[in-house]
Amino acid sequence: MFNVAILLKIIGLLFILSCEEDKEPDLVSNKFDYERGRRLYMSNGCPVCHGNEGRGDGRIASSLNPPPLDFRDLASYKKGAELEQIAQTIEVGITGSSMPGFAHLTENDRIDIAKFILSLKQIPD
Ligand code: HEC
Repeated sequence: MFNVAILLKIIGLLFILSCEEDKEPDLVSNKFDYERGRRLYMSNGCPVCHGNEGRGDGRIASSLNPPPLDFRDLASYKKGAELEQIAQTIEVGITGSSMPGFAHLTENDRIDIAKFILSLKQIPD
């Protein structure tokens, strides 16, 4: 005779095990966020000043004063290089420079762009 109670327990156990594989997303190297962040960075005009790889070498970079930083150099961030701080800078911009605020983007979008920016430090020259 087939035992339904045991079958249900096994299904329950499999369900619990499958949930446990959902790990917390890695802040910097999460593939999905990286691609999403990169797309947002590209489509919001950041490369014109910051360059495609965020090295501070965008098309109009040399005409800006102060010039855009190299995103890989964490020590050169005036407003802090933590994920939350970068997302905040993207929201409000930097007074006295040509860095505009992007308050029209969602918090989620700004966080994903910040993740993309932080991931750039892993790309060598
Ligand atoms: C018109 C040019 C321009 C555009 C467009 C622009 N930036 Fe900037 N950004 C700058 C400049 C210039 C600085 C350096 C400002 C300074 O040193 O005071 C800067 C600084 C920054 C910083 C570093 C802040 C710090 O703490 O020093 C971040 C992060 C940043 N930009 C992100 C972005 C993102 C993301 C976008 C697109 C959504 C973007 N920027 C679009 C010109 C620009």
